[in-house]
Amino acid sequence: MCGIFGIVVEQEQPLGEILVEAGRRLSYRGYDSVGCATLRDDGTIDLRKDVGKIDAVAERLRFSEMVGRRGIVQLRWATFGSPSPANAQPHIDSDGDLVGAHNGNVVNNVELRQQFIAEGMTVRSTNDGESCVHAVERYVDRGDDMITAIRRAYNDLEGDYAFVIGRVGEDTLYAFKKGSGLVAGIAAGATCVSSDLPSILPLTRRILRVRDGEIVILRADGVELRRVEDGSLIERESEEITESMEMVEKGGYPHFMLKEIHEQPTVAGELFRLLEASPHVEQMVTRMREARHLYLVGCGTSYHACVLGSVYLARLAGRPAVPVLAPQFIPQYGPTVGPEDVGVFVSQSGETKDVLNALAVARQRGMGVLGLVNVIGSTLMNESERYLPLACGYEISVPATKTFMNQGVAFLYLALRMGGHSTAILANLPDLLEETLKRVEPQVEKLVPDLAAADDLYCLGYGLTFPIALEGALKLKEVTYTHCEGMLSTEFKHGPLSAVYEGYPVIFVAGPEDVPLLVSGINETTCRGGRAIAVGEEDERLRANANDLIVLPPSDPVLNPLLATLPLQLLSYRLSLARGYDPDFPRNLSKTLTVD
Ligand code: AGP
Repeated sequence: MCGIFGIVVEQEQPLGEILVEAGRRLSYRGYDSVGCATLRDDGTIDLRKDVGKIDAVAERLRFSEMVGRRGIVQLRWATFGSPSPANAQPHIDSDGDLVGAHNGNVVNNVELRQQFIAEGMTVRSTNDGESCVHAVERYVDRGDDMITAIRRAYNDLEGDYAFVIGRVGEDTLYAFKKGSGLVAGIAAGATCVSSDLPSILPLTRRILRVRDGEIVILRADGVELRRVEDGSLIERESEEITESMEMVEKGGYPHFMLKEIHEQPTVAGELFRLLEASPHVEQMVTRMREARHLYLVGCGTSYHACVLGSVYLARLAGRPAVPVLAPQFIPQYGPTVGPEDVGVFVSQSGETKDVLNALAVARQRGMGVLGLVNVIGSTLMNESERYLPLACGYEISVPATKTFMNQGVAFLYLALRMGGHSTAILANLPDLLEETLKRVEPQVEKLVPDLAAADDLYCLGYGLTFPIALEGALKLKEVTYTHCEGMLSTEFKHGPLSAVYEGYPVIFVAGPEDVPLLVSGINETTCRGGRAIAVGEEDERLRANANDLIVLPPSDPVLNPLLATLPLQLLSYRLSLARGYDPDFPRNLSKTLTVD
C-alpha cells in the first residue's frame, strides 16, 4: 500500500517543498522508501529516491532544490522485493524520457519484466511500479501517443493499482486507476492527483474522484477525464470537500479501527488476487507438505489466526499442524524440533519479540522457518526462508482487525492449495464480507445499550469458530477493558458455568455445521438465567434457543468463520465508545511489542 502524488503548475518553479509536504501527508499509510521526480522545461528529469523516512531522505537528497513544472512524489510500502534505492519509486523508462510511480500491486510483474527485458528495455529494479512505466514505454516506442499507450498498458497490467506518469517535452501528467484509490485536485494555476485526499487538501478542496478504468489528464489550467476503453471524454462535476483533515485521514470514519474494519473486503480481495499470481505459494505449500511436524507460531491475534489455520489445514488438506503461542514454543517444542520440521511464524508487525525469540530457537535447531507478515522489511520477513505478505497496508489502530482477516485468508488459501482444492470460493469473500458488514452493523448496534455496562463476558465457539471466539474475546477485552474470556463452547460447562447469573452475557459463535452442539451450550447458559447471544447464519434452532441472534449471510462453511469475525470486531468497537474509551489506542497497550 504505497502513496502517490503528482502536480502540474503553470511555470517552472521550486517544487521540492510542495512534494515533501504532500509526501508527509501520505506517510500515515506507513512506508519504507521515498522518491521525488521533477520534469524540467529543459527536457530533463530530476529523480531522487532512497530508503528511509521522508524528512531524512528529503534532507539527505536535498529535495528542496528540485524545480520543475511537473512533479511526482511516491512513498513505497514494499510488498514483494526488499526496500532498496533501486526499488524505490518513481522510475524512469529505458531512455529516460518517461517517469512514473504507482500505488498498489501489479500481480503479473514477474512475467512483464521478462517480456520487457526480452524486448530490449532497460529494467533497473524488481519493483512493479517500474513495470507500469515500461508498459507505457512499450507502446510509445511503437509510435502511440500517450493516451493510446496508457490505454494499451492498462490492459497489460494486472492487479489493483493507480499510476501517475509524465513525459519530457510536454506540460501534462497522466494518471490512471485500476482498483486502488485516485483523486484529482483542481487549484488556481495548478492541478494535482493523489492516492490520498489529505495530500491534496492543503492545495485545494475542489476535487474530482477518479474511477476504475479512467485516465486523468492534468494540465495547469484543468483536468480532463477519459475512458480507458475507447479514449472518450467523461463529463463529471468536481466536488468541494468540507470535512476536517483529521476526518479525511480516517477516510471519513471517526476512528482508524472502524476504517480498518471496513477495509477488510478490499484487502481480502487484494490478497486473494496477489496469492493467485504469487510464485511463492507453491514453494510454501511444498515446504509445509514435506515437513515432519508443522508448527504455526504467533502471539495475540496472530496466534488466533494460527489456531484457525490449523483447523483449515486439518480439514482441507488432512495435514496436522500445531498452533502454539510463541513463548511456549521454546520450552514445549524447542527441545524436540529439528531440520525435518517447519514453523510458519505469523506476525502483523514482524517485530514481536516473543515471536522472534521462538524463531531464534527454531533456527538454532535447524528447523525450517516460513513467515506470514504484514510489514515488509521487518525482522520476521528477513529471517524467514520464505514469506507471504498479508498485503493489508498500514494498520494504525492498536487492535488488529484487517490483519487477522488476511492471516485467515492466507491460511485458508494455503490449506486449499495443499489439499488440491480449487481456490475459487475465495473470489466471493469480498462481496460476502461487504454484505456481512451491512447486515450486522444495525444488529450489533441494538445490543450496545444492554451490554455496555457488563464487566464480565464469555465468547464461545467450536471447531472453525473456536479461534473466532478467542479473537472476539481478545478484541472485546482489549478495547472495552472488561473481563472477556474466549473458550471452546464445550469447556464452559466444565467450570465457568458457575459464574453465570441473571442476564450474564455469553456470546456463542455458531458455525453452520455445529449448531446442534452450540444449542446444548446455549441452553446450559439460558436455563441458569444467562443471556445467550448467538452469531450465525439464519437458523430456527438458534432463533428458538438463544436470546439474540446476529445473523450472518449464508456462505461456504470454511468462509463462515471469517464472516463471523466482523460482528465481534464491530461489537468491541461500539462497546468501547459506549464505555467512553478510545478504541484506536487502548490504555497500557502498544501496537508492536518489542519487549519480553
Ligand atoms: C491484537 O489486537 C493485539 N494488538 C495483539 O494481540 C497482537 O496481535 C500481538 O501483540 C501480536 O502482534 P504481531 O501480530 O505484530 O506479532
